[in-house]
Amino acid sequence: MVIARTRSELDAAGAMGSVLVPTMGALHEGHAALFRLAREHAGPTGRVSVSIFVNPTQFNEAADFDRYPRTLDADCEICERLGVDVVFSPPPGVMYPEGEEVPVGPLPAVATEPGLEDARRPGHFAGVCQVVRRLFALARPRAAVFGEKDWQQLQVVRAMVRREGLGVEIVAGPTVREADGLAMSSRNRLLEPRCRAAVVSVPRALDAARGESDVARAEEAMRRGLAEAGLGLEYAVIRDAETLLGAAPGRAGRALIAARCGAVRVIDNAPWSPAGAANG
Ligand code: PAF
Repeated sequence: MVIARTRSELDAAGAMGSVLVPTMGALHEGHAALFRLAREHAGPTGRVSVSIFVNPTQFNEAADFDRYPRTLDADCEICERLGVDVVFSPPPGVMYPEGEEVPVGPLPAVATEPGLEDARRPGHFAGVCQVVRRLFALARPRAAVFGEKDWQQLQVVRAMVRREGLGVEIVAGPTVREADGLAMSSRNRLLEPRCRAAVVSVPRALDAARGESDVARAEEAMRRGLAEAGLGLEYAVIRDAETLLGAAPGRAGRALIAARCGAVRVIDNAPWSPAGAANG
């Protein structure tokens, strides 16, 4: 495995045409599943690259950026063990040689209109689009793998790639969960014990929504479960899975939740369909 820090080191390591998994490090089993999926897509002779860069431009709270876990040595060991070919761990000056100012647009509508993560974390998707564009320009991958855990980010990246004709296939990796259902996330290690116990109500709320055949009742079931657990609710909604706008009546959509416990935000999502209740 090669650890590259610059564009020329990436080129020498053969990252071009690889299947890239962009990450911010603090790797866990959820990332490992994305690396395995990348390997399947690359095939036995193709190359898998993983970028590890805590992108300052997508954090809308300085404290969140400061406390984001940084575990580069352990991350590289995990990548080595999982057969990753290239780790790209650039210093900020390589990512943003002209400074960290985020370009103003153009962003796809799904990054600005839903009123979900876009509204709760102003500037977040502009930073994500900026870093993903830059990673694609530096590594020039054939395909890139993103986790469904960040469902809204996945839709934003897909829309950006389509709109800008970036020519990178976007592959979605299913969410990996702890035994009690909590979606794996690098931020979970920041949860204090009281909150770790409470946030299991998030996947349970998604299950409760699945048992309801009507959008309003499904949303109410999610909100009730989160309130009973004492979480700070940001949103618990059913939306169109791709546009993230209101789901058409009677059609399948995506259940999306954001809630807070202490200083940590937890987001999660699951498919939702009016027929889901009937099908159990
Ligand atoms: O999902 C993440 O870890 C980040 O948002 C990403 C895609 C690596 C961009 O910094």
